[in-house]
Amino acid sequence: MIQANEIRKKYLEFFKARGHAVIPSASLIPENDSTLLFTNSGMFPLVPYLAGERHPAGNRLVNSQKCFRAEDIESVGDSRHDTFFEMLGNWSLGDYFKKEQLEWWYEFLIEELKLDPKKLYQTVYAGDPAIGLGKDDEVVGIVKGIFKKYGIEAEEGPATTEKGEEGPGQEIDFDRERIFAYRDKNWWQRGDALGELGGPDSETFYDTGKPHDPKFGKHCHLNCDCGRFLEIGNSVFMQFKKTAEDWEPLQNKNVDFGGGLERIAMVANNLQNIFESELFRPIIEKIEDLSGKKYDEDRQAFEIVSDHLKAAVFIMSEPAGIGPSNKDQGYIVRRLIRRAAVYGRELGISDPVWIRQIGDIVRRIYKGIYPELEENKDFVDAELEKEEQKFTKTLEKGLKEFSKIDQSDGVSGEEAFDLYQTFGFPIEIIEELAKEKSTSVDKEGFERKMKEHQELSRTASAGMFKGGLADQSEETTKLHTAAHLLLAGLRQVLGEHVIQKGSNITAERLRFDFSHSEKLTDEEIKKVEDFVNEAILADKPVVCEEMDYEEAKKSGAMGVFDDKYGNKVKVYDISPYSREICGGPHVTHTGILGKFKIQKEESVAAGIRRIRAVIL
Ligand code: ALA
Repeated sequence: MIQANEIRKKYLEFFKARGHAVIPSASLIPENDSTLLFTNSGMFPLVPYLAGERHPAGNRLVNSQKCFRAEDIESVGDSRHDTFFEMLGNWSLGDYFKKEQLEWWYEFLIEELKLDPKKLYQTVYAGDPAIGLGKDDEVVGIVKGIFKKYGIEAEEGPATTEKGEEGPGQEIDFDRERIFAYRDKNWWQRGDALGELGGPDSETFYDTGKPHDPKFGKHCHLNCDCGRFLEIGNSVFMQFKKTAEDWEPLQNKNVDFGGGLERIAMVANNLQNIFESELFRPIIEKIEDLSGKKYDEDRQAFEIVSDHLKAAVFIMSEPAGIGPSNKDQGYIVRRLIRRAAVYGRELGISDPVWIRQIGDIVRRIYKGIYPELEENKDFVDAELEKEEQKFTKTLEKGLKEFSKIDQSDGVSGEEAFDLYQTFGFPIEIIEELAKEKSTSVDKEGFERKMKEHQELSRTASAGMFKGGLADQSEETTKLHTAAHLLLAGLRQVLGEHVIQKGSNITAERLRFDFSHSEKLTDEEIKKVEDFVNEAILADKPVVCEEMDYEEAKKSGAMGVFDDKYGNKVKVYDISPYSREICGGPHVTHTGILGKFKIQKEESVAAGIRRIRAVIL
């Protein structure tokens, strides 16, 4: 058994011996970047340096970075996803490039961690004519050379270039073929905003030996979701910056490498699951004690509880002092704790103050690694306990309500939906409760209700925005287009939590309400204005497309409704700045708008801000 703590240490030492400065993990709460709520990769705090600034520690860096990805909350439970994880990362800021990176990484895996090279596979960038790049044959050659050193003739397998990346759609001979090209899967960028950095990448996969599950496609391939191949590291050759047009080369050719410690610990120990390493095991064991159940009896619930509480403890331990709340990061913390509480109950935990006990276990696992866990212990424990008590009350009320339901005919869709709406009971919990009472839940009815509710709120917001435009004059229309750019700008500068809450537009001015809880700083206002004015200067066409609502949502359009055409909606696209579902009208190109200026920014209700803006 090689402990995860040992792997982290070995990794840092390995790269230190190769000229890298060990830098500390940045906070999970971004300090100088309001575009994201959480640090989600090791490169995040290093963006300015990858973009060309000098880093005070030099041009070779290594660390283990705390990361959190809220978008994975729903994926936890499949044995390989977690929301909080540590990313082992090394960087070359315009120094070494592809060859050193890949050779060192493989040397670390095979010589230091003793991974069997026969279980390793690599993907490379297939190229994309739209970006003007071809297949990364240089990486193919380097990887072949590495395998050769270990006596393995690694051949290139069939490539996947079509969007969707379903795989090449043919049987692969995994004994012979080890290198596979993909297009979108092998391009990494942190986000979609202007100025984001990106580049082709090359990922390392480990064959866990699990049999392929045809549910995920006829033939297995490296990026198949069946779980046979696990991605354990990504070498990004970070060389471009996103502009309004496309991608422009950066000053430097950088390496941005990241590998999830939890996954590396899993494969280095031949485990089947990230939750079996000592980074999770003590939490799982504590939950076994508390619940009297075994991990194997309900893996999903065990994984959700242990992942979510560990993540909540880490986030709350940051010096920013974030506790559960209804906004921003605090909202995520609340969601994590409550979801864990619900699954804890499902596991049969009856201790009324069990959640804060997990805090101690998390601190024990990471003792001496992340001192902030100890430093902020009192705050975290108090918040965990408070939140648990608050939620227990809500839960009790909901349970009382549940017991009032006449269960002889099963729980109707409507009743289930009420429990969901009023008490936040997830449907799987309602099903569990019903099972305990030997009755059933009309799940289809629940889903129908849910859909109806969504339709209703859509219609309600359609009504709400109908009065948004005072008239259809050219001046009003211009300000309407400006409102789309404003929303996009607010989301880029303040974060994706910003959604439109209302608007009122006359020929003279635009009034725009949006969700955000703090007063905007002068700098933020300036950034938003700059975003809008840049889009105006770029003189982009405003393109209207009609499509199904679902299709529109899938295509990334913001869902704010001015109008509804049955199932069809109009999407106004001002690429790459804005994409919104909207009834119009809009100008045909942004250049005619003139200069955009924010005149006033104020609060109108809790969590809602209002901007008044004009076009000069
Ligand atoms: N930044 C790269 C990633 O997160 C390494 O995968």
